Amino acid sequence: MKQLRVLVVTAKGLKPPEDASERDDIQNSSWKMEYDVSGALTRLGHEFEIVEVYDDLGSLKKSIVDYAPDIVFNLLQEFHGVAVYDHHIAAYLELLRQPYTGCNPRGLMLSRDKVLAKKLMCYHRIPTPDFFFVPFGKQPRIPKKLRYPVLVKSAIEEASTGLSQRSVVYDAEKLKERVEFIHEHTGGGALVEEYIDGRELYLGVLGNTRLDSVPPWETVFADMADGSMPIATHQAKWNESYREQNDIRSELAKSLPEGVSKRCETLAKKIYRTLFLTGYARLDCRLREDGTLFCLEANPNCDLSLYDEFASAGEVLGYGYDRLVHKILTLGLSYEPAWKQ
Ligand SMILES: Nc1ncnc2c1ncn2[C@@H]1O[C@H](COP(=O)(O)OP(=O)(O)O)[C@@H](O)[C@H]1O
Ligand SMILES: [Mg+2]
Repeated sequence: MKQLRVLVVTAKGLKPPEDASERDDIQNSSWKMEYDVSGALTRLGHEFEIVEVYDDLGSLKKSIVDYAPDIVFNLLQEFHGVAVYDHHIAAYLELLRQPYTGCNPRGLMLSRDKVLAKKLMCYHRIPTPDFFFVPFGKQPRIPKKLRYPVLVKSAIEEASTGLSQRSVVYDAEKLKERVEFIHEHTGGGALVEEYIDGRELYLGVLGNTRLDSVPPWETVFADMADGSMPIATHQAKWNESYREQNDIRSELAKSLPEGVSKRCETLAKKIYRTLFLTGYARLDCRLREDGTLFCLEANPNCDLSLYDEFASAGEVLGYGYDRLVHKILTLGLSYEPAWKQ
């Protein structure tokens, strides 16, 4: 690949500081993904600049006009603090006829709306936990046949926002309380789902038309203390001492029953196509004891940090980190938006 001019676009405060490589807090920093991607771009011989965007499209446009990048590396996961707005950024880049990495606006919009994504999955017979939705400010109308436990989560937020041990509830009273909590805490609707007891698998997919999948990656909740539920709360994902206390590990899924790896691959690609995804995505799934694989949610433009699930699973496939970043650039350049067709 020729040397590219890459404009890395990210959220406010996520541009790595000048002295980043000398800092000893890289691992726990908020700018870790930006730091890792920048390192790969340097090693791949590309020229790049990082620009932070909060709520000003004008400054984004100015950076594009001034820098004239071959491609925008889109690491922005929100606009004006709103996560579900990220599809507008991809759309804006597309309107500017600016090639960019990652998912197209339609795929982002469908996936970030977890309820709509689940409706599409149901239509295409992709197993996803039974659910109902409680709009912001409304009281839940609890279906008569509801089986407990259920998990109450945000319909719009990512990264386990609003999720804790109290998210799993066993009766109507606690369900109502938790729905109220989600409404108050996130300012959006609550998604109430049948709780799936099973192994937690993350399935990575890369591609626009021809798709590659990476082997299932697993979060193993090996020894949850005091009857805590094995769920990926904020603590379970990012608090190292909590992970140690409860022996929570992230690793290549081991000893999957026969045929499950293949089924993961087929399912992952089906979800990816159903939600019109392009670029790269991580699909969060659960494998129940009876062998059913459920899709919990789709994460296009997922975390690309080195050693995070997506990159680690890719590594096993022989995708070293730099090759992964290279592949993402290639996919961004070869994606065909309407204006190119
Ligand atoms: N229906 C469910 N059954 C069991 N666990 C769930 C369910 N939904 C979510 N979880 C747990 O909560 C975590 C976060 O939920 P998820 O839907 O992936 O949202 P996000 O990662 O965007 O916060 C999952 O990784 C899983 O551990
Ligand atoms: Mg998730």
